[in-house]
Amino acid sequence: MDLTVAERRLPPLFTPDFYRNPYPVYSALRRHDPVHWDEEHELWVLTRYTDVAAALVSPGLVRGAGELTMEADDPLRRVLSRMMLFSEPPRHTRLRSLANRAFTPRRVEGMRVRIQAIVDELFERIGGRRDVDLVADLAYPLPVIVISEMLSLPRVDIGLFKRWSDDVIAYSAGAIDMEERARTSVTALLSHLNEMVGRLRGHPDTIMSALVEAQSAGSQLDEEELLANAILLLMNGHETTTDTIGNGVLALLQNPDQLKKLQAHPELMMSATEEMMRYDGAVQLRGVRSAQELKIGGKEIASGQTVYMVIGAANRDAEQFAEPDRLDIERSPNRHLEFGQGIHFCLGAALARAESQIAIHSLLARCPGLELGSDRLEWKSVPVFRGLKSLPIHV
Ligand code: HEM
Repeated sequence: MDLTVAERRLPPLFTPDFYRNPYPVYSALRRHDPVHWDEEHELWVLTRYTDVAAALVSPGLVRGAGELTMEADDPLRRVLSRMMLFSEPPRHTRLRSLANRAFTPRRVEGMRVRIQAIVDELFERIGGRRDVDLVADLAYPLPVIVISEMLSLPRVDIGLFKRWSDDVIAYSAGAIDMEERARTSVTALLSHLNEMVGRLRGHPDTIMSALVEAQSAGSQLDEEELLANAILLLMNGHETTTDTIGNGVLALLQNPDQLKKLQAHPELMMSATEEMMRYDGAVQLRGVRSAQELKIGGKEIASGQTVYMVIGAANRDAEQFAEPDRLDIERSPNRHLEFGQGIHFCLGAALARAESQIAIHSLLARCPGLELGSDRLEWKSVPVFRGLKSLPIHV
């Protein structure tokens, strides 16, 4: 087929229609031009499972803006460049090993009881109300409270920390008009966290104090790297989990046979949450930059070009998943790419899984007559994250 003709027929990316439902666009791209050069946004778009899976672990595709920003005289660039998410080896290896020491599976498993207690507290706040906004009442506060407690942030300041971290996420996800705000917010975060670090030494009972301990135990990390990665945990620790819970519950409500099955068999919760993440994931794509000329799917990628690895499209690829557009809570195997792959595999995957499983399990157990409250749903309009602004339900 003549590709230019096919390309002309491709629906556009990142329009209001796309944000409502990106999957038909992904499907058209995957079919007609799986390694697509998007003229308008000047970037490559990968939509096939095999290409995205390979790109996620390719050393030729890098996440950071390079070593130059390390010494920049600008708090925002300095902090971002010190985050493991935007680093490559050897720096990434150093940062990640510190975080691994604090973020152990045992510590996350130990959080389950606390997560359940927070969920119960949030349901108590809902009380006897029948009309609930699942996002505002449960999916949003839960991960924010959890990650704030893990980072030893005082509860009264949670709103403030959350607002500052939202500014930094928005900027790092591409909202360049947010630069000035993000810079002010990063400065505020640094000064509050810095003040906290002193108090935490010698009390290794939260993730944050474990990070501080690991840093003082001669891990060759400077204080700025410690603080930058604490901010990263705060940034990554909530929005994605909020969206996972919201998107997952909506998927169940729109697939009543699967909802009924899960209500009858709560023991399927683990595979059900994996399927919800595959079917309509919170992280839709990851942007990287080619560090050298390389070939993907027969196309030449020049050095320095931006490549979007579209995880949301890979997770619906029929070459990998039978009937990919069907929600099947018993799907097995289910090797979705929602948490990435390789050295950057999501550090918080176990925590995000625990929070989603407990929140959705509690919702179904407490609200057997759960129904969608409105068909008019509003989605966020950013390419990287997919999530609902609110999800009205009747309980
Ligand atoms: C369902 C919710 C979540 C999803 C879908 C998700 C997804 C991802 C993905 C796709 C990556 C890999 C990015 C890449 O390849 O560059 C990643 C990395 C990361 N995530 Fe998550 N995440 C979630 C929740 C969390 C939570 C709760 C935390 C922390 C408490 C967290 C912390 C991190 C960190 C620190 C990294 C960087 C790892 C590295 O660069 O080595 N994430 N996440």
